[in-house]
Amino acid sequence: MRIIICGFGVVGQSLVKLFESRSEDLYAKYGLKPRVVGVFDSKGSAVDLSGIDLEKLVAAKKKFGSVKNYSKIKNNISGLNMIKNLDADVLVETTASNYKDAEPGMTHITTAMKKKMHVISVNKGPLALAFPSLLELAAYNQVMLKFSGTVGGGTPILDYAKGSLRGERITSFAGILNGTTNYILTNMANGLSFESALKDAKNKGYVEADESLDLDGLDAAAKLVILANWIMGMKVTMPDIKCTGIRNVTTDDIKNAAKKNCAIKLLASCNRELEVGPKEVSLDDPLCVNGTLNAIAFTSEHSGTQTIIGKGAGGMETASSILRDLLDIRKEIAKN
Ligand SMILES: NC(=O)c1ccc[n+]([C@@H]2O[C@H](COP(=O)([O-])OP(=O)(O)OC[C@H]3O[C@@H](n4cnc5c(N)ncnc54)[C@H](OP(=O)(O)O)[C@@H]3O)[C@@H](O)[C@H]2O)c1
Repeated sequence: MRIIICGFGVVGQSLVKLFESRSEDLYAKYGLKPRVVGVFDSKGSAVDLSGIDLEKLVAAKKKFGSVKNYSKIKNNISGLNMIKNLDADVLVETTASNYKDAEPGMTHITTAMKKKMHVISVNKGPLALAFPSLLELAAYNQVMLKFSGTVGGGTPILDYAKGSLRGERITSFAGILNGTTNYILTNMANGLSFESALKDAKNKGYVEADESLDLDGLDAAAKLVILANWIMGMKVTMPDIKCTGIRNVTTDDIKNAAKKNCAIKLLASCNRELEVGPKEVSLDDPLCVNGTLNAIAFTSEHSGTQTIIGKGAGGMETASSILRDLLDIRKEIAKN
């Protein structure tokens, strides 16, 4: 399977390391032989139709800061031209999530689908701003658009709700979908001020370069949009979410919640409305997880409520969700 990877940061590099470490059993167990034919980052690109040497690629990125130094023979092909002109089966989009105009991911994804390429995106921006039209574009071009890694990192939240609960009618759900704010709120419950908890989270590398994405609830809202569209069949985008972050949560709010045997958590919920905001959650509720963990509780008509808990992010975890998507695509291609 010929693959183009856009973006070669934490997730992109984890993915190629996963390909390398699993190459034998991926082929033996699933018949999957990933061949990465093109990779680009913000500074340039690497191309090899016979398959890029992934170890050499990671070394070049580490040493020179860009994949463009992969080969001594420089190529000037831009990322977009690579998508337009290189023959590939799947595009893996891992550039940074942006909730203003979703670029550059949006153009990468739409260009690839119009070229009849399947797409796997871990980038939430395009899905948060244009989920319904992207799914229409995928259907029109008869390609698959997969995005398991956008919600829950490696924890298969979307697959669980869509696959394991098939036939059920999910009536509502609520979840802690942003590990960074959960880490900050957990530390505030342990006595730290908001400022100290934020500083600690930054030192540990948990906070996005644009801290507003975490603190103002935008990351959680983007995940809520994806869930609402995919699981509930709604046609919504970011502006439909009522969103409040955690900047105004005080230590007094946290102490008051504790007196009621509760903790304050940034909850993304789909009930009567779509909302992200700080809410009191009982300490006895399985949803009330701590640290950077994510959790989501689905309530359905006949099966009651089930809560899934897992690591919501991480390079390797997210790469493993891309692998799941690739296997699904491989299965569909084989079927046809
Ligand atoms: N990390 C996680 O645990 C996780 C989990 C779930 C989803 N995600 C999502 O996955 C995506 C990637 O995350 P990450 O942690 O890998 O981010 P990252 O380390 O910041 O990597 C982003 C990559 O995108 C490249 N890039 C940025 N602008 C570009 C442009 N205009 N053209 C081409 N490449 C461009 C960067 O290039 P340079 O290397 O040249 O800067 C970098 O290689 C994000 O959308 C994130 O929200 C991440």
